[in-house]
Order: sequence, then C-alpha cells, then structure tokens
Amino acid sequence: MNPQWIEVCAADEIDLEDVVRFDHGEKTFAVYRTDKDEFYTTDGFCTHAQVHLADGLVMGEIIECPKHNGRFNCASGQAIRKPAIVPLKTYPTKIENGNVYIEIEL
Ligand code: FES
Repeated sequence: MNPQWIEVCAADEIDLEDVVRFDHGEKTFAVYRTDKDEFYTTDGFCTHAQVHLADGLVMGEIIECPKHNGRFNCASGQAIRKPAIVPLKTYPTKIENGNVYIEIEL
C-alpha cells in the first residue's frame, strides 16, 4: 500500500455547500466543498446502506444521506444522526493550483 495524491477536478467545479462523486479504481468517494470553502473527502457510500452520498444534501460540514436522512460530519466522518451509526472513512484533501487532490492508498 502506497499513499498517493490523486487529482479529482478543478476546485471551482464543486459549488459551495455541495458534493461530487469521484470514482478511482474499485473505489468511490464523495468530495465536499463547505459553505466556508473547505474541502473534505469521505467514502462515497453511506455506511447504513449502499447509497451514494454525492446525491445527498450538504449543510455546512454536514452531509445528509438521500435515503434515510442519516447525517455525518464530512470533516471527521462521524455519524451524527440515526439511522447512520458507523462513521465514514475520511481522506486527506488539498487544493493545489486550483485543483482538488485526495490522498488514497493505491
Ligand atoms: S442509507 Fe444512508 S441513512 Fe440509510
């Protein structure tokens, strides 16, 4: 396993307080931009069921799952409203030259 920074997209392709799906290899991620212009990344699928969080609603640092309205903190991955209980895995995220990068194990 070798952690590497992978380019996701241009930072301005993600609206403020929004989320996009990013697929790489076998994995899928949700990449968030908060209302404070901070970027975070978590696993793409909700830990409650196989629903992609990129279809959910971002409110500040909160992502609300589109299926049963469970909530997570997208910065820490912590589950903060049932039925979501298991935290999301998070990934280091940075902006460089106007692009979003995430660090993942390859
Ligand atoms: S699938 Fe996300 S809360 Fe149920």
